[in-house]
Amino acid sequence: MAIESEYVIETQDLVKIYKTGKVKAVDGLNLKIKKGEIYALIGANGSGKTTSLNMISGALFPTSGNIRVLGYNVPKHRRIISNYIGIAPQDYSIFYDLSLEENVRFFSRIYGMTKAEFEPRFNELLNILRLEEKRKALAKNLSGGMKRRTSIACALIHNPRIVFFDEATVGIDPVLRTFFWKYFHSLKEDGITLVITSHVMDEAERADRIGLMRGGKLIAEGTPSELRNKHNADSIEEIFIKLSEGVIIDE
Ligand SMILES: Nc1ncnc2c1ncn2[C@@H]1O[C@H](COP(=O)(O)OP(=O)(O)OP(=O)(O)O)[C@@H](O)[C@H]1O
Ligand SMILES: [Mg+2]
Repeated sequence: MAIESEYVIETQDLVKIYKTGKVKAVDGLNLKIKKGEIYALIGANGSGKTTSLNMISGALFPTSGNIRVLGYNVPKHRRIISNYIGIAPQDYSIFYDLSLEENVRFFSRIYGMTKAEFEPRFNELLNILRLEEKRKALAKNLSGGMKRRTSIACALIHNPRIVFFDEATVGIDPVLRTFFWKYFHSLKEDGITLVITSHVMDEAERADRIGLMRGGKLIAEGTPSELRNKHNADSIEEIFIKLSEGVIIDE
């Protein structure tokens, strides 16, 4: 059953130890994200961002801890919340031998959308993502940035209330990225919650709040200006480098 809360995402002491892993990939994560927030999860490679998003979306079972999404317990009610969540994964999962349109249609069917619901929404997304001309192209023949945008279309087709963009703007050119951020803010205006991960620090600066992970833990959190003031830094990049120091990059 859903429990009323001002937070659409809440995690409590969330831990993940992979069977093949020796360390805690996520080590006691406590996150609270409000409706309509744009929350940027940042951190060095291997700090646990993707693992956290996968547990919150119900794709990965936690080792321990609690998760609530829209008031529903996850993973118990992951099937209910999957209708309200859109995910653009880091390793964009699209079918290379299907066309762009077939890929997005596939996801719309998973979410139970009818043809009448699909068509107008798909056309809207093709326009927003500047993909109109590639509609019938095979996914394998799309450029890297176009594959990424196709993956974003798959994540947004069913009008989700919460969207996870895991490195979603990697490979997207700066002009389109600026355009995307305008779109992200329009989603926010509609009350949609966005959780993004990014290694582009000026993107993190555009979020409402930032959480910095290190070793599976949240080691700093706040609005971009709160973080800059607290750490006496000119930029989030400076804070990232300062607080992530000593981390062995494992990729
Ligand atoms: N399927 C897996 N099996 C075992 N260990 C894993 C698995 N996936 C991730 N890990 C480990 O868990 C830790 C956290 O990885 P995760 O992918 O969550 O980091 P990340 O912050 O998303 O990194 P990046 O910025 O590189 O995307 C790393 O030490 C990684 O090697
Ligand atoms: Mg990742």
